[in-house]
Amino acid sequence: MKILVINGPNLNMLGIREPEIYGKGTLEDLVKMIKEKANSMGIECDFFQSNHEGAIVDKIQEAFNKVDGIIINPAAYTHTSVAILDAVKSVGIPTVEVHISDPDKRDEFRKISFVRQACIATVKGKGFEGYLEALDILAKNVVSN
Ligand code: DQA
Repeated sequence: MKILVINGPNLNMLGIREPEIYGKGTLEDLVKMIKEKANSMGIECDFFQSNHEGAIVDKIQEAFNKVDGIIINPAAYTHTSVAILDAVKSVGIPTVEVHISDPDKRDEFRKISFVRQACIATVKGKGFEGYLEALDILAKNVVSN
């Protein structure tokens, strides 16, 4: 089973960015944590972070017929991007939406998620652990090729 983990804009700043909301761990720490759990589950993981909407759309399209599941934290694009929603719908790959914080408990504008409509589940407000929960969800719901 092969999974693609996508992190959107400003998540390369984890550890520096608003640590009271996102914690002190870096993106590198997050990747390491996911890799360790994925390895123990026999899941192959690819990682991608971009600050650019189009680059995220390209990456999702490239995953067509190549990966069995996607974990995506579209970050700020969650609340704005129909293009990312359409990309996930286009490829038809089971996708879990993850947020480190709980956007529903923050600003009004964070309550909308476009991508959610195309996702099999959403995990929010659980810090980095949320990505591990997403791995479990995909492992239970996805049949690998
Ligand atoms: C986020 C929540 C979003 O509202 C915000 O724009 C982010 C990160 C999260 O992981 O909690 O950049 O997706």
